[in-house]
Amino acid sequence: MADITIRVNGTGVPLSVDPRTSLLDLLRERLGLTGTKKGCDHGQCGACTVLIDGRRANACLALAVAQDGSDVTTVEGLASAGGDLHPLQAAFIERDAFQCGYCTPGQLCSAAGMLAEGGPSAVTADLSEDPALVPEEIRERMSGNLCRCGAYVNIVAAIADVAGSAARAGAEAGTSAGARARPGAREGTR
Ligand code: FES
Ligand code: FES
Repeated sequence: MADITIRVNGTGVPLSVDPRTSLLDLLRERLGLTGTKKGCDHGQCGACTVLIDGRRANACLALAVAQDGSDVTTVEGLASAGGDLHPLQAAFIERDAFQCGYCTPGQLCSAAGMLAEGGPSAVTADLSEDPALVPEEIRERMSGNLCRCGAYVNIVAAIADVAGSAARAGAEAGTSAGARARPGAREGTR
């Protein structure tokens, strides 16, 4: 067993863990945070996506022991301390961006991480620019999150709503989309 401390949704949690335990199993089985879903358990579906130090990661591929000292945010931690929904959560409801909802926690955490990344993607024509998050860019950047209900059209629309709001706020504040953090590849994915 290994003694670690992980900050989960703002609260430091000291734990003794089997080094083989995945972060996903730790969250669900030890901490009771069942919002994070297990789909494939092999890094293929994105249902288990959480934020580790602000970057999206597949919790099924991350060893809990390797997260000692990390800051982990799950879907339960997206809303404000006062209970206000995260803008993405509100947009998903507004856009009816789910059916069964199984993929939704992963979609939300992935989108939250994605919106902070910036930089070009595989579908960006001009690699020197930091592109606007048009639907094609959103689809590419969210391609690691599968939805078996096929709610993609509304998922993209919900994320575009929030991306547009952020861009408008940046423009009013005199910044650009390039003010987003530079890209970091999603951890624990193919
Ligand atoms: S459960 Fe499918 S990627 Fe982790
Ligand atoms: S809403 Fe059912 S899997 Fe996405």
